[in-house]
Amino acid sequence: MLIALNYKMNGRKTFHLNQLETIKKLNKKGTNLVLCPSFVFLHLFKFKNKNIFLGAQDIAAVNNGKSTGQTSAQMLNEFGVKYVIVGHSERRKDGETDEQISQKVKNAIENNITPIICVGANADEDVSKTLKTQLKFALKHVKTGNNIVVAYEPVWAIGTGRTPTVKEINFAANLIKKQLEKSKINAQILYGGSVNDKNFNELKTANIDGFLLGGVSLETKKLVKIISGV
Ligand code: PGA
Repeated sequence: MLIALNYKMNGRKTFHLNQLETIKKLNKKGTNLVLCPSFVFLHLFKFKNKNIFLGAQDIAAVNNGKSTGQTSAQMLNEFGVKYVIVGHSERRKDGETDEQISQKVKNAIENNITPIICVGANADEDVSKTLKTQLKFALKHVKTGNNIVVAYEPVWAIGTGRTPTVKEINFAANLIKKQLEKSKINAQILYGGSVNDKNFNELKTANIDGFLLGGVSLETKKLVKIISGV
């Protein structure tokens, strides 16, 4: 199982250091963790642990040059980042386009970083149609054999305490798998959106490979329950 933690723009240095002490000691029973802190805290997560990987929350759509405030795929790779979240709905809401997302995915892959591509519809959108369009762009430069992860995150479930049913998650996961098969691409599929220690056991019966956790990443006790309960 793959569990990615998206800390978003949260956490202080002491919080991360304390939580890391706990997470490192857990018996993860073959579960791989991807920890995605803010850029300024990435350095706190540079240690060797065979089940824990370094992740970033974003990547530039261009490779270098006049892009104030951006961080390129090459820089992230040189720093030791192995995964990057791309196309999160909070970034899409801020104006990130499908075209930029396809460039970000391309840059990540070319620099040996596995993109965690987020897809999901708003409550008033058609799930199939939205996922197909988002995937069409996101997979544009992905080739057979490339490592990618796709996270299904319905926008209405993020940070709201509401989750889809297992059946709804399976419907979306199947749709994603079909689209991947068409392009002969293999990927791990995650679910994200209001996952917590209470609903985790039910949600993990879905036909998926893991989870992208947001809010609960900040609650170490609950997180420990999730990670050690896998
Ligand atoms: P949430 O966030 O777990 O707080 O709903 C998930 C995400 O944004 O990836």
